Amino acid sequence: MSILVTGGLGYIGSHTVVELINHNFDVIIVDDLSNSEKFILDNIEEITGKRPIFYPFDLRRKELLKQVFDAHDIEGCINFAASKAVGESMVKPLDYYENNLFSLINVLQEFKERNISNFIFSSSCTVYGQADQMPIDENTPLKEPESTYGKTKSFGEDILKDFSKAYNKRVSLLRYFNPIGAHPSALLGELPIGIPNNLVPYVMQTAAGIREKLSVWGDDYPTEDGTAVRDYIYVVDLAKAHVAALQKLIHSDEETVLDIYNLGTGKGSSVLEVVKAFELANDVAVPYQICPRREGDITIAYANADKAEKELNWKAETTLEEALKTTWEWQKYLKDRNN
Ligand code: NAD
Ligand code: WQD
Repeated sequence: MSILVTGGLGYIGSHTVVELINHNFDVIIVDDLSNSEKFILDNIEEITGKRPIFYPFDLRRKELLKQVFDAHDIEGCINFAASKAVGESMVKPLDYYENNLFSLINVLQEFKERNISNFIFSSSCTVYGQADQMPIDENTPLKEPESTYGKTKSFGEDILKDFSKAYNKRVSLLRYFNPIGAHPSALLGELPIGIPNNLVPYVMQTAAGIREKLSVWGDDYPTEDGTAVRDYIYVVDLAKAHVAALQKLIHSDEETVLDIYNLGTGKGSSVLEVVKAFELANDVAVPYQICPRREGDITIAYANADKAEKELNWKAETTLEEALKTTWEWQKYLKDRNN
């Protein structure tokens, strides 16, 4: 069965492609390499022994997308392709709306015209904003995200809800909490392009001496140690959830399905806990300084992922320390690669 994976050479996409191949799916990747590199494809082949079909183009190019659908018997899609830098989205909102939503709509048009179902969308815990209660389950009220990036996720969800209902399609919206870590082979991970905004890539680069010090954004939050709390989920666990969600859609007896799952560990960790865990797991120092809060940050977010456990038979299994070890191995791989 052929599955289209858009953004399949990106961070979460590449790990998911490996899991799909491990489950005997034929994978077709479309990725314009705007936030990835071609060697990731070689590394997927090295890990799995199979080279997925790869088309390097921008999904906004409808005519090229049509050719992919003409050439293959596609039976489902996992749609990772999107721009994801929160700060950049605030200064380039039109670019974000255009890339994240036009790309999505172009794939959905092909699904509609060709009678294809089974669509998985990469959503985010950002759709909950600062929730009033922890942990966050799927019935927690949604709040308008502060960033344009976050809004593209909310709009994406709305588009898919309408798409599923109007055209009788099977759709799964997966709300990721904070993905971290790298493949155990150290051949896949998050590519550090520019100065990282996210915590774990910044911690990794600080430990490696690429950055002098980590800025801890705020120690006056109403949390145990004053730093903000998130639910850090290991990327391979996250990738496995995609296979489970896809299999549920494919095997469903229903013509129309709208699944929504929170994908997290259920455990919150503070910024300082992450720093300490990284130091302990890898026996390296992470120098840091306390700075004022970062604008737009929430205090606390962690998931109740019981629904995914019950319905997908999926659960995050990797500890924070284990995940952070893989991050460090990935950093060493990148260093060797650059030498
Ligand atoms: P990523 O940037 O590593 O991967 C996205 C991939 O899509 C990249 O390889 C990029 O080259 C490609 N791409 C972007 N626009 C494209 C276009 N128009 N045509 C073709 N390819 C295009 O990001 P990621 O961290 O793997 O995230 C994957 C998805 O998960 C995104 O939709 C993101 O919004 C969502 N998400 C990510 C996080 C996170 O913290 N990483 C959290 C929640 C949700
Ligand atoms: C985590 C914590 C920071 C960097 C963002 C997006 C969200 C989602 C995941 C996709 C926060 C603190 C960070 C640093 C720090 N992406 N921090 N120093 O903010 O939870 O979410 O990425 O959908 O939409 O908004 O993740 O990794 O940026 O930050 O102190 O140098 O680490 O303040 O408390 P965040 P993050």
